[in-house]
Amino acid sequence: MKIKIAPSILSADFSQLGEELKKLEAAGADRIHLDVMDGHFVPNITFGPPVIKKLRTSTSLPFEAHLMISPYENYLQDFINAGADLIMIHPEADGNIQRALNFIRSKGKKAGLVLNPETPIDLIKLYLEDIDNLLIMTVKPGFGGQSFMHDQLEKIKIARTLIEQRKIDLEVDGGVTEKTAPLCIDAGATTLVAGTAVFKTSHYKKNMNALIS
Ligand code: DX5
Ligand code: ZN
Repeated sequence: MKIKIAPSILSADFSQLGEELKKLEAAGADRIHLDVMDGHFVPNITFGPPVIKKLRTSTSLPFEAHLMISPYENYLQDFINAGADLIMIHPEADGNIQRALNFIRSKGKKAGLVLNPETPIDLIKLYLEDIDNLLIMTVKPGFGGQSFMHDQLEKIKIARTLIEQRKIDLEVDGGVTEKTAPLCIDAGATTLVAGTAVFKTSHYKKNMNALIS
């Protein structure tokens, strides 16, 4: 199975995000990871639906919105309107998880859950029929450039087992580098989020290829 790369634009040049998206598409990115932070659920603030809506015109790549916001339910429609193809919520945030996943899917979009490092993997057993994507955090959410938490590899392996034959993309986010990407892939991840590792030089294609070769 081809491993997909979802660059996180958190590490991109915010003064020219449209151009950055075009470069990522040309470099072979599979989808764009959008880290939405509210300064409340996580101690950092990034961007929201208006920015995403503007960026939608710069690429045809799928957009995945990683919502680090609490509460999240009142904003789901805004992210759908802005052009998000996959919307991922944190169960640790305030909201009705089941209702949110159902809502996202009822609008024809993909739904996902994101687990913080301390959140037990067992939680996903309740939602296996309701998600298209499972994102395992391998850093504490809030900032790019942190070190990979190796103790999360076991969680990725268990997630892979729990998913069985279901069509759920297993994705990893945080500290993914040339060194840690192979560990994630061995554990069963099918999509890698990477910010620092993709944007560390202007050779995005080379930087992405280094993660999967
Ligand atoms: C952290 C974000 C990640 C982050 C990844 O809260 O969810 O997507 O940007 O950045 P790197 O690859 O630098 O760890
Ligand atoms: Zn993220």
